[in-house]
Amino acid sequence: MKNFFLIFQLLLTVTFAIAQKQLPYQNAKLPIEQRVKDILTRMTVEEKAGQLNQLNGGVFTGPAVNDNGQQQKMQLAKEGKVGSMLNVIGTTETRAIQQIAMQSRLGIPLLFAYDVIHGYKTIFPIPLAEACSWDLKQMSINASIAASEASAAGIHWTFAPMCDVSNDPRWGRVMEGAGEDPYYGALVAAARVKGFQGNLNDNKHLMACVKHFAAYGAVEAGREYNQVDISRVLLWNKYLPPYKAAVDAGAATVMNAFNVFEGVPVSGSKYLVTDILRKKWGFDGFLVSDWASFKEMIAHGYAADEKDAALKAFEAGSEMDMESQVTIKYLAELVKEGKVAIKQVDAAVSKILYYKFKLGLFDDPYKYCNVERENNEIFTLENRSVARKAAQASIVLLKNRNKVLPVASDKKVALVGFFANSADDLLDFWIAQGKASEAVTLYDGLKNKYANISFSNGYLPDCTTNDSLIAAAVAQAATAEVVFVNIGISGIYGGEERSLAYPQISDGQIQLLKALKKIGKPIVALVSSGRPLILTEAEPMVDAIVQCWILGTEQGNAIADIVSGEYNPSGKTVMSFPYAIGQIPVYYNHFNTGRPDSTNGNLAWNSRYRDIPNEPLYPFGFGLSYSTFKYSDFNISKTVIKKTDKLNVQVTVTNTSNRDGEEVVQLYIRDYAASVIRPVKELKGFQKILLKPGEQQKVNFVLTAKELSFFDAAGSRVLEPGKFSVFVGGSSKDVQQLDVHLIK
Ligand code: GLC
Repeated sequence: MKNFFLIFQLLLTVTFAIAQKQLPYQNAKLPIEQRVKDILTRMTVEEKAGQLNQLNGGVFTGPAVNDNGQQQKMQLAKEGKVGSMLNVIGTTETRAIQQIAMQSRLGIPLLFAYDVIHGYKTIFPIPLAEACSWDLKQMSINASIAASEASAAGIHWTFAPMCDVSNDPRWGRVMEGAGEDPYYGALVAAARVKGFQGNLNDNKHLMACVKHFAAYGAVEAGREYNQVDISRVLLWNKYLPPYKAAVDAGAATVMNAFNVFEGVPVSGSKYLVTDILRKKWGFDGFLVSDWASFKEMIAHGYAADEKDAALKAFEAGSEMDMESQVTIKYLAELVKEGKVAIKQVDAAVSKILYYKFKLGLFDDPYKYCNVERENNEIFTLENRSVARKAAQASIVLLKNRNKVLPVASDKKVALVGFFANSADDLLDFWIAQGKASEAVTLYDGLKNKYANISFSNGYLPDCTTNDSLIAAAVAQAATAEVVFVNIGISGIYGGEERSLAYPQISDGQIQLLKALKKIGKPIVALVSSGRPLILTEAEPMVDAIVQCWILGTEQGNAIADIVSGEYNPSGKTVMSFPYAIGQIPVYYNHFNTGRPDSTNGNLAWNSRYRDIPNEPLYPFGFGLSYSTFKYSDFNISKTVIKKTDKLNVQVTVTNTSNRDGEEVVQLYIRDYAASVIRPVKELKGFQKILLKPGEQQKVNFVLTAKELSFFDAAGSRVLEPGKFSVFVGGSSKDVQQLDVHLIK
């Protein structure tokens, strides 16, 4: 009956529209679903395949995989055989290409996509650094500013947030994520989706893209694009939660990952794409492949040829094909051969068309091509001040022996370190339209704070050094009261295809530190990197260590704000800092093993290394402040709970210092005996609080069945009776513990 009225209404509208010379899908007054339905009936199979075809239009963010030049791509767009372009930037260029697409038979507008990972032109701290702020609201704001700037430049869709959990600093892409914890990664993912998308009802937000689905962060040995081989229990408990949270936050799209799961490339994995994403999670947006990941199923050894790749991708439920063009080449043929059901094609195409209608592009294809916005709303002073604030909160103070920090601005300081004065090494691979030349270097930032400052390189761009560089640095440092040494790696090693087998401080920089240490001045190491580096050899030679990450446009100012004391560091690392390379991967939420370290009072027969400790140099959740905090009166409401109970957890935190300070109070649990083993700790809550000197605050948490449960191999939540521990503290290591028993 309902269909009858729908069809009747449609007929009425068609009649009316013909009179108006306007087709239903062109009628902005009609519901989107109706407009999608109408245009779909008018499309050929080739045009439908076109909507599933995304082509690169500008700078390459992947290898060249087809011989189509720009000319051919524009011809395809004119024929209605392109649904989206990526890497086309700016109102002029997007308008020009949109005009070409609007010449197609049905005038279906393109979606323009871009990697707005941590800012468009105002560059924010890398997501890994942002996550160390533990300020979800701020991360959402940062994403919304990035969206506002990118949408002012003609962009509709960002390929962010990256939701890949990872604990391997050999992998360059850890910089794009939120570290090693799934619970926190899920909260960050949702916050960023909401920031990017808003309600998608204005042209100041972007469609988000949950990537890289799934488990790309588990690449073996941290080697880019490498094999992933994990169990379903680990997939469900460690890797999937952030993707799920981002989907639940309403993300418009999801991106396939490059890797395989259970021997099947993700683009062809029905288990991941259809069974989990579509059926179990009810994702109703659309999927886009990662760069040529459909075609790469051939190289993986899963597809026989391009046509087989197109078929296997579609059979799995994957949809839009980024850059490989196997879909536009073979989908129509596969439909005609009856190998792909047109119903499935229509379902995929409908979702893409839905978002084009929702963004208003059918009614105004140039809605985002607003030159006035582009000229006035990008890289504003206001946006930069927000970026500076975000950067301050992202910095992690790892060591501060004898309170050498903060350093008063009237001190005579020396700054040593090539990177501190090298804009080109400041930013990472994913800087979108950010310009290193527009970013504040560490030297610039410190000069803004310290009138009496000198600078020397200390090492070369490749992090090696030589006697004359060291001599110059030593001579200059000898005349200073405090020495700042910028060590680490260039920002260009942050991002895709930047795996490092040795994520550590270089020999040259160690040599420099040794020489500087001999002069007996306080040394503050300022570490620049898009990943945790091995700091073990440097640590004893310096009095303070500030993990500065890659902080974007306001990097230098934010670091200067910290070391001068203007901002009291509040960051806590979301990735463990390994003690040695041999330890990698090392992470806080590890399993106990059958012979945990030092259980039998002596070391023999324990799960350990003979040459290093099991513990990382700095654990997940760790970060110092210029303030100090005391945890007391830790209590839980019950020691025996039922599955339906809520467990109230409370701890009193006191600021025992003489200055305002922020503390991230963390809550962890442990499930001692379960049908699949559980980690020795799992983050299940946190609160970032600000306390005045001497101020106390009772911090309350509530634990429910959800936090105490886990996933079985089938992805079902399981809550089992038994002993649990509850931990609270200022890091995953420095905690107090109480036990509770869950009964049936
Ligand atoms: C790249 C990355 C992905 C990015 C895409 C488009 O290869 O894996 O994260 O969004 O291609 O640039």
